[in-house]
Amino acid sequence: MRNLTEANLTDAVLAKLEGAPDARFKQIMTSLIQHLHAFVREVELTEEEWMTGIQFLTAVGHKCDDKRQEFILLSDTLGVSMLVDAINHRKPSGATESTVLGPFYIPGAPELPIGANIAEGVEGEPTYFSGHVRSPDGKPVSGATLDLWSTDGEGWYDVQLEGVKGMRARGKIKTDTAGRYAFWTIKPVSYPIPADGPVGKMLRLMGRHPYRPAHTHMMISAPGYEPVTTHVFVEGDKYIDSDAVFGVKNSLVAEFRRHNPGVAPDGKRLNKPYYTVEYDFGLAPSR
Ligand code: BEZ
Ligand code: FE
Repeated sequence: MRNLTEANLTDAVLAKLEGAPDARFKQIMTSLIQHLHAFVREVELTEEEWMTGIQFLTAVGHKCDDKRQEFILLSDTLGVSMLVDAINHRKPSGATESTVLGPFYIPGAPELPIGANIAEGVEGEPTYFSGHVRSPDGKPVSGATLDLWSTDGEGWYDVQLEGVKGMRARGKIKTDTAGRYAFWTIKPVSYPIPADGPVGKMLRLMGRHPYRPAHTHMMISAPGYEPVTTHVFVEGDKYIDSDAVFGVKNSLVAEFRRHNPGVAPDGKRLNKPYYTVEYDFGLAPSR
């Protein structure tokens, strides 16, 4: 293995995988090396550009800590997260489509009764979500858990704010025997993904904005069913067709209907305008 050239270097590297005992690892590394080499050849990468790439990936790593995952942000903004999602969640019709988890999920949200407000004390426009969780054959799924999380009315998650201790705008709601759920939250707003790091710089160089259209996050699970990680997006949002992480699907866009102050569907009296969202979820049986 000497005098390797542009023409035979790729094969020489691939040959090094001959003794790899794990077949899947071997398949993934073979393909990765082939695509990486093909990319370098195609663009005829200069040494300076190669160094810029190394420095970029180094900066992405340095930006990561227990609260910030810049590599996931990189994957999200390059559409890799949604591609992995699409390949891994080919849903039967009737099952809710999935979308990105995002970096702001935290396990252990408080369990709250049906109809509770997951955003108690959070500034924003009150919004009442209600509907059912069903299996694709239309049967109600009772005891399904909706693990919910949202920004505040200004577009910040609790974990992004130094001054916020503990969880805020998070909660778990279970469906009743008829598969029905309901909860109060605040109307989500569009917000920029964290853009103060190398991924933000990359977006600016690409001429892209960092915004996500307004959405409420949910992870829905029930024994005997495939869990789904998804959002409900606000119809008419300014960024609905240019999500920075490519996560919008038609079936996940809902009408947030505005109401004047008065009595909400659950009998609660509101002295300011509020919104209602009626949205049904579908869970596919486990395979
Ligand atoms: C989110 O919706 O929370 C999110 C998703 C991907 C990247 C950043 C934020
Ligand atoms: Fe989000």
